[in-house]
Amino acid sequence: GLEGFPHYMLKEIYEQPDSLTAAMRGRLSDVDATAVFGGLNLTPQQLRNVNRIVLTACGTSWHAAMVGEYLIEELARIPVEVEYASELRYRNPPVEQGTLLFALTQSGETADTLAALREMKRKGHPSLAICNVVGSTIAHEADGGVYLHAGPEIGVASTKAYTSQVAVMTMLALYFGRLRHLSYEAGQRIITQLRKLPDLVRETLEVNGEVRRIAAKYAHANNFLYLGRQFNFPTALEGALKLKEISYIHAEGYPAAEMKHGPIALVDQHTPSVFLMPQGGVYDKVMSNLEEIKARGGPVIAIAAKGDKEIARLADDVIYVPVVEEFLSPLINIVPLQLLAYHVAVHRGCDVDKPRNLAKSVTVE
Ligand code: M6R
Repeated sequence: GLEGFPHYMLKEIYEQPDSLTAAMRGRLSDVDATAVFGGLNLTPQQLRNVNRIVLTACGTSWHAAMVGEYLIEELARIPVEVEYASELRYRNPPVEQGTLLFALTQSGETADTLAALREMKRKGHPSLAICNVVGSTIAHEADGGVYLHAGPEIGVASTKAYTSQVAVMTMLALYFGRLRHLSYEAGQRIITQLRKLPDLVRETLEVNGEVRRIAAKYAHANNFLYLGRQFNFPTALEGALKLKEISYIHAEGYPAAEMKHGPIALVDQHTPSVFLMPQGGVYDKVMSNLEEIKARGGPVIAIAAKGDKEIARLADDVIYVPVVEEFLSPLINIVPLQLLAYHVAVHRGCDVDKPRNLAKSVTVE
């Protein structure tokens, strides 16, 4: 049941501290400073010989795969490609030996994702699933994989499955990193950070009231831009998809610096831009992108780290979230964007849990 929540989507957003705990349960080893997975079904040799990873998925799961690309390349130094399943199934790309496929899917029933998995399997590549629904078609057909253990996700807009997928991607990056160059100390540090995550997400949820206020202010806009860089470029894509799906407002996610190559022409006083501004290597760069938007009269909503004093001077509205290391920031920053989409949709009187034209799982191609 809804357990007092007005919608499943909100309930599932609030379940994230628990679903993340479940995703990590029994999968972090202090002794070896790595992640452990029971069901990959590959020999240590096979795993050590992986020299390329292909991630395939649709929709929100594809965004989780995009975060995975940044994580695995950064922590494990293995080249990663992210493919839309609907493209991969017909594209016939050259795939080298030593390539491992992961299909990411909440439902395990998405037709295109299933077809892409079958195609890669047919070509002899080990093909694994990262899946939520136990015993689903994709979980069953894959050579092995990792369950999310997020519990049932009822809302059509995926929320807790997304953060669990990103958490699993982080653990896989740690795992492959530790098979290669990542030191014991570095592995330990990542584990320590991961363990703090559920509490940090709980703390992030405290922005709910503030987000509801901001949502009311912007709920009448017809267009939104979502901008972020590096680990948070996929966060921008996912924030935009959430808003589109349930509020029917047109929204685009972009890597912040791509703005000036076209989309900046959309900016006017009625087009809010949501900026992802975590502390880290590209903060100053994102800030100058933000200034370009302000200079053209666009309202700015910033998701920034607590303690950031500079941002309040420039952004129209700021949502402050806990400070985390850059590689974990997608898991924190998506929470206010889920809430923003939710409150905007409620404000507009939309059917949050069952948006028009959409089904929970897309079992036709
Ligand atoms: O069950 P799957 O993860 O394979 O579903 C993929 C997409 O259909 C799904 O993520 C869709 O984009 C959601 N409605 C997003 O909220």
